[in-house]
Amino acid sequence: MTTDADKLNASNSNSCDTLIRNVSLIDGSGAAPFNADVAIANGRIVKIAAVGEIAGWTATFECDGSGKVLSPGFIDVHTHDDTNVIRQPEMLPKLSQGVTTVVVGNCGISASPVSLQGAPPDPMNLLGEAEDFSYPTFASYVAAVNLARPSINVAALVGHTALRNNQMDRLDRAATDEEIAAMCAQLIEALANGALGLSTGLAYGNAISAPTSEVMALAAPLAAAGGLYATHLRSEFADILIAMDEAFRIGKHARVPVVISHLKCAGVDNWGRSGEVLAALEQAQRYQPIGCDCYPYTASSSTLDLKQVTDTFDIQVTWSEPHPEMGGKLLAAIAAEWNLDLFETAKRLQPAGAVYHGMHDDDVNRILSHPATVVGSDGLPNDPLPHPRLWGAFPRVLGYYSREKKLFPLTVAINKMTGLSAERFGLTERGLVREGYWADLVLFDAETVRDAATFTDPMQPAHGIEAVWVNGVLSYRGGAEKAATGDRAGRFLARGRPLPVMA
Ligand code: ZN
Ligand code: CU
Repeated sequence: MTTDADKLNASNSNSCDTLIRNVSLIDGSGAAPFNADVAIANGRIVKIAAVGEIAGWTATFECDGSGKVLSPGFIDVHTHDDTNVIRQPEMLPKLSQGVTTVVVGNCGISASPVSLQGAPPDPMNLLGEAEDFSYPTFASYVAAVNLARPSINVAALVGHTALRNNQMDRLDRAATDEEIAAMCAQLIEALANGALGLSTGLAYGNAISAPTSEVMALAAPLAAAGGLYATHLRSEFADILIAMDEAFRIGKHARVPVVISHLKCAGVDNWGRSGEVLAALEQAQRYQPIGCDCYPYTASSSTLDLKQVTDTFDIQVTWSEPHPEMGGKLLAAIAAEWNLDLFETAKRLQPAGAVYHGMHDDDVNRILSHPATVVGSDGLPNDPLPHPRLWGAFPRVLGYYSREKKLFPLTVAINKMTGLSAERFGLTERGLVREGYWADLVLFDAETVRDAATFTDPMQPAHGIEAVWVNGVLSYRGGAEKAATGDRAGRFLARGRPLPVMA
């Protein structure tokens, strides 16, 4: 533990652990870059000064950042890394992008609190195998994360589908009052141990039978704890406005901020509706706190869903339990090979995973650049052929969307990946480069940073990420090396300052 006295001592002395010199500092607030030296001690930023002003300081480790940008480490607000942060604590897909914190437990699925009664139900199977779920309480999950000491920090939501599966004999019905009470008790335990809030994935078969009233009742404990409500909407297709309205009503009823997960206009019939969708969001923002996250691609990915099978865009199968040999092929090609229609083919492949090329550029551009939007990868770390967002989302925002397409300036891109994200999710003393804040930092080359992961070759570390510090510890070296240093310094992050609660 670092005490305030320690901090003061460190900042008054002329020595520190690490000194990063001559950087172009983009502090995460959206403010313009300025040239600075940054000193780190005891895991925190202790001094930010104009170049040369702290020339007399000595450091155990010095880094020359000439020509490079230093910014807060990126916060991936939408992940499914729940069990991977424990099983694969190096977390290279994220660390190599400059990500220093992940939020797990999105889309209604979380690794805790979970007591499975068999195989994990769809889509909890995205998080791992049955034996990977061994956290019956949220407290046991927190302990496991801290014991594993992943390379990045971890904050967590609690999934509605996970709670349903704990308490219900079948998921194709509404929960009873007793079941909701039992789910609430588990949510309260999680909130008491630092969970950020509740997530739902109402579009999925195992949650779609939950009426709005079930979620409203379950969301009751959130306000007192300062938690939030994050939702994968009941529909991202034709009924998206109805689904958004449901989310807003739940947030209003529970008096908590709402985060719409991976906001998109999915399906050809829905293309071009992002203006309408964002207008509905802005309208609701006048009465309650609402934000959203978005990944920077026109393709989505999840388990193979029969409801999403269509011939109007490409669907790539990424894995199939009964037919692993079909991983990587287009659903249409498999259908032709089997001489079946798309629907029958999909049925035969299940359980399976897929990438759906079902979004339009204009909609992604409009949503990504909206001031309400922060960046989340939605990467699927257990997919053998993962959507490239797992390894590429953050550098892609910097390289493709900001530098090449000029969708927004670099300072705005960084704010959407750091300062705004921390504020939205209540991550205290993170997301900005400020004296006294934790030293989660990334050094990158603004001219060359870009994603390297593609749909055919997705497990590729990004270019242009030079170095990543987590809690003051140098955890990743880029350049030609592109490797973790082996020093892992991540920790579990409990919910910070209470979020604004509606009157
Ligand atoms: Zn989702
Ligand atoms: Cu997700």
